[in-house]
Amino acid sequence: MKALTWHGRRDVRVETVPDPKIERPTDAVIRVTTTAICGSDLHLYEVLGPFLGQGDVLGHEPMGIVEEVGSQVTHIKAGDRVVIPFNISCGHCWMCERKLYAQCETTQNREQGMGASLFGFTKLYGQVPGGQSEYLRVPQAQFGPIPVPEGPSDERFVYLSDVLPTAWQAVAFADVPDGGSVAVFGLGPIGQMSARIARHLGYRAIAIDLVPERIEMARRHGIEVLDARDHDDIPAALRDLTDGRGPDSVIDAVGMEAHGSPGAEFAQKLTGLLPDAVAAPLMQKAGVDRLSVIYQCIESVRRSGTMSISGVYGGAADPMPMLQMFDKGIKVTMGQAHVKRWIDDIMPLVLDDADPLGVADLATHRMPLADAPHGYEIFQTKQDGAIKVLLTP
Ligand SMILES: NC(=O)c1ccc[n+]([C@@H]2O[C@H](COP(=O)([O-])OP(=O)(O)OC[C@H]3O[C@@H](n4cnc5c(N)ncnc54)[C@H](O)[C@@H]3O)[C@@H](O)[C@H]2O)c1
Ligand SMILES: [Zn+2]
Ligand SMILES: [Zn+2]
Repeated sequence: MKALTWHGRRDVRVETVPDPKIERPTDAVIRVTTTAICGSDLHLYEVLGPFLGQGDVLGHEPMGIVEEVGSQVTHIKAGDRVVIPFNISCGHCWMCERKLYAQCETTQNREQGMGASLFGFTKLYGQVPGGQSEYLRVPQAQFGPIPVPEGPSDERFVYLSDVLPTAWQAVAFADVPDGGSVAVFGLGPIGQMSARIARHLGYRAIAIDLVPERIEMARRHGIEVLDARDHDDIPAALRDLTDGRGPDSVIDAVGMEAHGSPGAEFAQKLTGLLPDAVAAPLMQKAGVDRLSVIYQCIESVRRSGTMSISGVYGGAADPMPMLQMFDKGIKVTMGQAHVKRWIDDIMPLVLDDADPLGVADLATHRMPLADAPHGYEIFQTKQDGAIKVLLTP
């Protein structure tokens, strides 16, 4: 089959790889009908190379049709239409019983000191072949796959794999008080949906980005926006909009590659030049994240407010302003989304033909899997108005 494979920094290729097959009774194999490129894939594309292997298949936002199931998979069968969550979770361990699916103890990567395995996501997370491919082997398929009805287009459902539950969790964990305000940093797919969900739940959402078409998309969904190019001091601008106090909550939907952190950008490039055996432990022990947005979040949130980080970070010695965080009494929450935990909340909204979250207005590009390298390039460099790229195998 054809699949999108990683070969080096900004070097991904569509190649022929072996067809996946059932290896365990808890596996399923699906034929992928739509699969997306995520901001997390961009970290793999640019910065996290030391944790990837030549030929690793990327992708963690697939949906499709079940081809075959193992003997212990009973909630789905061949021919069913399913969305695959990006976390691989068993559904029955101590963590899964508490709906902490991103920490599943059956698929945790203990030798790496990391949480549950993820599709298409580095040696840290199990090096499981990903879903930017024609077919996908789904481990723990007795639990993971989300059945969806026939009828509506793939675009209605594909964001259940990651974007919508991640955004939902970002808002839920931001713990916004009733009628309160939340600032959303970053208007990629995660920020767009976080802001829309916040508004849907009755909160005031103020979003920040610096890419015109992303700002425009948020505006047409009724989101208040600050254009970072027009403000030297975003936290001050946010205080001006919130009675001088700052928003009740903030969401970081940017992550480790924030624009405007020149020193750290240099450190990231440097680790990219080192041999993997040196770079990987260095990245795990050194400060390599570009923290400008985290700092703005800390400065923006009101005293005793909550900061919800969904952007991915990777370093270990990143300097944090502990005095300010302690004095302001900030609550901080972060981590990979527990995808299936939020599906019951979100499913009625994607099944609603009125499209309350506007899922029909997120993808800007649809292209064949064969063009995926081009998709990565335009999504990373924000060419051609790219906000979300969907691939058709
Ligand atoms: N926690 C999870 O489970 C989870 C799931 C999916 C994605 N993510 C992470 O969420 C983040 C966003 O993902 P995405 O798909 O929306 O990607 P994206 O790269 O499209 O979004 C990042 C956005 O941040 C903006 N940005 C960069 N610097 C900024 C600055 N200084 N101020 C304001 N905005 C700035 C960019 O213009 C871009 O719009 C990534 O770090 C991704 O890895 C986490
Ligand atoms: Zn994703
Ligand atoms: Zn589990």
